[in-house]
Amino acid sequence: MSFITEFFKNKSEVGAVAPSSKFLGKKMYGGINFSKVKCIVEFGPGTGVFTKEIIKRMNPDACMLVFETNPSFYIKLKQEIVDPRVVILNESAEKIGEYLALENQEKADFIISSLPLTVFPKELKESILKSAVENLSKNGQYIQFQYSLNAHKLLKEKFNSVKLAFSLINMPPAFVYKCSI
Ligand SMILES: C[S@@+](CC[C@H](N)C(=O)[O-])C[C@H]1O[C@@H](n2cnc3c(N)ncnc32)[C@H](O)[C@@H]1O
Repeated sequence: MSFITEFFKNKSEVGAVAPSSKFLGKKMYGGINFSKVKCIVEFGPGTGVFTKEIIKRMNPDACMLVFETNPSFYIKLKQEIVDPRVVILNESAEKIGEYLALENQEKADFIISSLPLTVFPKELKESILKSAVENLSKNGQYIQFQYSLNAHKLLKEKFNSVKLAFSLINMPPAFVYKCSI
């Protein structure tokens, strides 16, 4: 219910009427070798469907930075996730560099993004993707889902490699982009 309420309050921020399925989650973080991950970043966790699963898989000494602009989702996440490895921020995704530095982290090994790029203004998309590229480790991946192929061209411009997957079991079905620098 909280998801649909937030969607109708701000469609261009929330970008979906319901949380993603676990099937889509598996396509997003299922291929990650968590034993090697030191720092993982999430953009747009919403109610935390991916966040909570990622936390279960993280090493005891790994860290996670979570960027959520919606105040209701942010408060809910802060109440539900109490873990010293996780920093939950009511900040926009393009601030990744600033907050990695504050946490003494050089780069993110993975960035998991659910941001609704299709409904974002061009400048915001550009600025978030620029910050993501600048703050992703050399062998890392930026993993983004979208309900369409609209973002494909832009992601191919920003990253050296973009691999596509598809999750049919989600409402609506979604494309997953795995991007490397
Ligand atoms: C499509 S929802 C995805 C939520 C959740 N990850 C899921 O898959 O169910 C997108 C989320 O991105 C958040 N968001 C929108 N713009 C943002 C920004 N600039 N920085 C961080 N989060 C943002 C929204 O508030 C919303 O929670």
